[in-house]
Amino acid sequence: MVDIRILTIFPGIFDSFLSFGNPARAIKAGLLSVQTVDLRDFTDDRHRSTDDYPFGGGTGMIMTPGPVVRGIRYLKAVMGSPAVILMTPHGRLFNQNLAEELARKDGIAFVCGRYEGFDERIRAFVDDEISVGDYVLSGGETAAMVVIDAVVRLIPGVLGADSHERGESFYNGLLEYPQYTRPRSFEGMEVPAVLLEGHHEKIRIWRKKQALARTLERRPDLLRDRVLDREEQKLLDEIRQEMTNGE
Ligand code: ADE
Repeated sequence: MVDIRILTIFPGIFDSFLSFGNPARAIKAGLLSVQTVDLRDFTDDRHRSTDDYPFGGGTGMIMTPGPVVRGIRYLKAVMGSPAVILMTPHGRLFNQNLAEELARKDGIAFVCGRYEGFDERIRAFVDDEISVGDYVLSGGETAAMVVIDAVVRLIPGVLGADSHERGESFYNGLLEYPQYTRPRSFEGMEVPAVLLEGHHEKIRIWRKKQALARTLERRPDLLRDRVLDREEQKLLDEIRQEMTNGE
């Protein structure tokens, strides 16, 4: 059972996300528990405020450390030793490897902020910071949903037994090969013949080559970080050869 708790001023934002699809199924099956914790419960003023003006001036409001740190202390007390993760655009860029790392944890506490950022001193109380991309969201909540969604899919038993299903686009660190379903002919576009012939080894090689070609074209950065086996190297050489021949 993966125990996830989310510290946020908008607990309700997670309701529909957790009511559908894989997250709902994982919760129902007892493989996952997700609880939101209202950051305002840890405020100590009449207005239940969680933000304040930046010292030194400037626009925007900053998450004040008191409620966040009290919230983190509470989560640590009730969860044992969770990984405490601050959602910010300054964090480690989220990817499938990081999702796999998180899926191995027993407990994860996500700390979501609104406003222009967190008081720097909050960083002393967290284990990690995650960004879901180089853009600024209105708050960490939607980012936490992205991370939770990717993690849920990796919890054994949530998807089908076939572990390949879990990788999909990033199985083996490559983009996925093209997929087709019925009809065979759609608006003049045909399903590649190799997929209709039932020759499994040919299909496997075709798919691997397509995955490599697609990755080379769209995400060459993924190939740079990857060790290729002999078959992949051979297919990649073929692809490069075909490209120089203008095929
Ligand atoms: N909060 C605001 N923007 C974010 C981002 N890109 N990733 C994670 N948390 C955020």
